[in-house]
Amino acid sequence: MARTPLLAGNWKMNLNHVEATGLVQKLAWSLADGRYEPAKAEAAVIVPFTDIRSVQTLIEGDKLPLKFGAQDVSEHDSGAYTGEISADMLAKLNVSYVVVGHSERREYHGETDALINAKAKKVIAAGMTPIICVGEVLEIRKEGRHVPYVLTQTEGVLDGLTPEQVGALVIAYEPVWAIGTGEVATPEDAQEVCGAIRGYVESTFGAEAAAAVRIQYGGSVKASNVAEIMAKPDVDGALVGGASLNAEEFARIVLLSA
Ligand code: 13P
Repeated sequence: MARTPLLAGNWKMNLNHVEATGLVQKLAWSLADGRYEPAKAEAAVIVPFTDIRSVQTLIEGDKLPLKFGAQDVSEHDSGAYTGEISADMLAKLNVSYVVVGHSERREYHGETDALINAKAKKVIAAGMTPIICVGEVLEIRKEGRHVPYVLTQTEGVLDGLTPEQVGALVIAYEPVWAIGTGEVATPEDAQEVCGAIRGYVESTFGAEAAAAVRIQYGGSVKASNVAEIMAKPDVDGALVGGASLNAEEFARIVLLSA
């Protein structure tokens, strides 16, 4: 089964809604200049909550070939949860993708695999696609325990999902030591873990789910290194941080993956 790569730009806490529309417009121009074919590689921007409405209006109004997403979601449906945003609120804005369990949420907000699993289920129930993040810290990698560690995370975050649900979602393997450090995992490092994740999905959810699930690599991805990472058989795209804040650079990343 052919999987369409997904290149998702995680802006993190950058760009207000005015800056956001500027970047999306530039991104669309750069992609058009490069004769972007959305059927070959999907491009998405994962923006701060306050940018979503403006980005939605621009993308839908100008029919830009871009998807958009959110960086987190509440595990609750509604109620007295000050500061939280529900999956239904995001779905109402036509959000396609919701990142859950990013390592920065795990580290600074104490998010556990069980919580991330609950959030992923809310995203799916609201009709959107979760991008579920897993990845090891440097210490685990140095001890050579990265594969079993990431598979334990994968087991936790996918718990209770059906094979159809798993086949339709996105898993992002982001080794924490490669995020924002300029330290990029080698293509072989990325393939080792992405391949192991697909193997886990196959043994737990079946061959169809394993063939369909998209597994991204994330961590210091740039135009200069994306092609060799994307060439690996089990890497189906990238979750891009810093480089996605530059429209031309992110466009090159998308075009090189198509
Ligand atoms: P960088 O691309 O800046 O390393 O960030 C990766 C990331 O965390 C994307 O979610």
